[in-house]
Amino acid sequence: MVAGAGGELINNGDVQETLKAHGVLWNHAMSFIKSMCLKCAVELDIPNAIFRHGMPATIAELLEKLSIPEAKSRRLRILMRLLSREGIFKSHITLSGEEAFDLTPISLLLTTVAGDRPSSSPFILMLLDRHLVDPCQQLSHWFRLQDAATTPFEMAHGKSFWELAGDRPEFNDLFNKGMASDSGFVMDVVTHIGGSAFRGVKTLVDVGGGTGMTAAALVEAFPGLACTVFDLPHVVETAERRKGVEFVGGDMFVEVPGADAVLLKWILHDWSDEDCVRILRRCKEAIPPKERGGKVIIIDMVVGVGVQSQTSVQTQLLFDLEMMILTTGKERDEGEWRKLFVASGFGDYKITPAIGLRSIIEVFP
Ligand SMILES: C[S@@+](CC[C@H](N)C(=O)[O-])C[C@H]1O[C@@H](n2cnc3c(N)ncnc32)[C@H](O)[C@@H]1O
Repeated sequence: MVAGAGGELINNGDVQETLKAHGVLWNHAMSFIKSMCLKCAVELDIPNAIFRHGMPATIAELLEKLSIPEAKSRRLRILMRLLSREGIFKSHITLSGEEAFDLTPISLLLTTVAGDRPSSSPFILMLLDRHLVDPCQQLSHWFRLQDAATTPFEMAHGKSFWELAGDRPEFNDLFNKGMASDSGFVMDVVTHIGGSAFRGVKTLVDVGGGTGMTAAALVEAFPGLACTVFDLPHVVETAERRKGVEFVGGDMFVEVPGADAVLLKWILHDWSDEDCVRILRRCKEAIPPKERGGKVIIIDMVVGVGVQSQTSVQTQLLFDLEMMILTTGKERDEGEWRKLFVASGFGDYKITPAIGLRSIIEVFP
């Protein structure tokens, strides 16, 4: 106990506890700055600059390579120190006693010049674009709304995610590049682990297949596979044509082109349960019975599957919230997936936890 200014007794332990909580509260309130510093590092091209440098880069070296004025030296150092504390870069002290920054496995994913693996930078730039960040300001208003169909995204922009993508070519481009970067990453992993779900499939339609990155990787990995990308007309119209891939524009709620198998990569988490059942029914109509190889292949999260750390548990929760902010969808656990499959008339399913936080779910008619 210590005496307070007015002579009253104060428990020192309580004060320390309160001060600790106060610091943690400040940290939570400002954590969005971490995300914005990550965005800034990608926009400044810091990961590529360090990679090209071939060794840890000092702040003076980074300033020169990135054409940043000398006067911003201290500011850049603080940004790099914050990102290094988060594990995105690694801080070293060189033999001459200078602080230098190196890549880590995380920032290596952001480079566009290291190896064959597609860069995750376009996906990060998409996630942190103002169109996706601004709706977060609407959350408390959104929770009080009776209307369950309006999303925070619609409250911020006056239209749905897909309508905005259809209206604004630059947003459409940013989104499609982000998704193509993710598809490149996922297909790299799928083909490295053997891609057994795709083996033996002769014809496949990639529903909501975007710019065709997934389809192109599948056609290359599985010779003899004929692939069709099916997406909204404005997406298909602007997609670069890819060898061995056919493009068809349309609406998956109306009709899905026929094939042995339908792929739904990162589609169903965008939609409500009712909409998912409608999409899955259209997919079931497009494929032959199970005995003739018919199946739907879903690449999406199964909440609770593939999580090996507190960070991955938190990442799945963040994705669930992101779907709530942008769309009427959600991330589902196995029980929630099973209900969708039963309601849309499928007989059986198999989950393979294959791609980090995401799984491959094969669903059979
Ligand atoms: C989250 S993205 C996934 C893209 C791609 N499958 C991937 O993982 O990279 C969702 C896709 O669904 C498409 N989409 C949205 N509504 C659709 C509809 N009614 N019919 C067909 N495609 C649709 C979007 O244009 C977009 O390309």
